[in-house]
Parts: sequence; structure tokens; C-alpha cells
Amino acid sequence: MAVQRTFSILKPDATKRNLTGAVNAVIEKAGLRIVAQKRIQMTTAQAQTFYAVHKDRPFFGELVEFMTSGPVVVQVLEGEDAIAKYREVMGATNPANAAEGTVRKLFAQSVGENTVHGSDAPETAAIEIAQFFSGNEIVG
Ligand code: TYD
Repeated sequence: MAVQRTFSILKPDATKRNLTGAVNAVIEKAGLRIVAQKRIQMTTAQAQTFYAVHKDRPFFGELVEFMTSGPVVVQVLEGEDAIAKYREVMGATNPANAAEGTVRKLFAQSVGENTVHGSDAPETAAIEIAQFFSGNEIVG
């Protein structure tokens, strides 16, 4: 399996509870390298674009509101099979179904406030990374 990059967000519930270091420790312990990282306040337009695939879902409004409710930390993670590996490290979308030791099992409070985002495929990873980072901000 080749070295890949994936896009990650530490969501507002993580920054509010001062958990960015704790989540990063889980990420790094799993062998993923944080090759870009910045703390930003997402705008409503950015959140709507980012989650456009969910625009017709009933939870879309709440999701956009939550993602803009406080700072987030956007990241690029690099490693062997990084996309699937990070999905494993994150755990299931609903923390009630997340496996032991995953970020969502350890820290998430609900399906809406579930601490982290990670890309689900190489195509989406490339699009999501490009939405938030320019090439020279990523240092592998
Ligand atoms: P999704 O892409 O299905 O999950 P994941 O983040 O694991 O890739 O959903 C995106 C986000 O939308 C999810 O992290 C939280 C929110 N969401 C809800 O608030 N309610 C829901 O029922 C679902 C499925 C998602």
C-alpha cells in the first residue's frame, strides 16, 4: 500500500474542550504524520461547500451551524494507507457504535458533535486538502 495523504478536521467540540493535543496524540500513535495543520474559524460558506454532498439531508443546517460554532483545526495527515487508516482511528460516525480506543469512542459526545472529520476516498481527500491548504503549506 502506498503512502497517501488525507484531510482531517478537529471539530469545534474538540477545540472547545481543549482536546486538540489529546486527539493529535491518538493520530500520531497510530503512525500518521501531521504534515500540515492550522486553526481557523470556518465561515458558513466554507462549511456549506465542504459538506455540499449532504445539502439535502435533514441534518445539514445543524451540521453547518456546528462546524462554524467555534474554531476548528484543519490538518493534512500522511502515511501508509492514510485514508482508510484514519477512518479506523476515527471510529464510527455515531460514537455509540465506535470501537474501543478510537477518537470518537474516546472523545465524541454525539453523532452531530463527533470530534473529527476524515476523508473517505482519494478523490475527496484531494478536493478537501485543496479547499483549505496551498501546496507550500504542506511539508512532508
Ligand atoms: P458522514 O459523512 O456520514 O460521516 P463521517 O463524518 O463519519 O464521514 O456525515 C458527515 C457528518 O454529518 C458527521 O460527521 C456528522 C453529521 N451527521 C449528523 O449530524 N447526523 C447524521 O445522522 C449523520 C449521518 C451525519
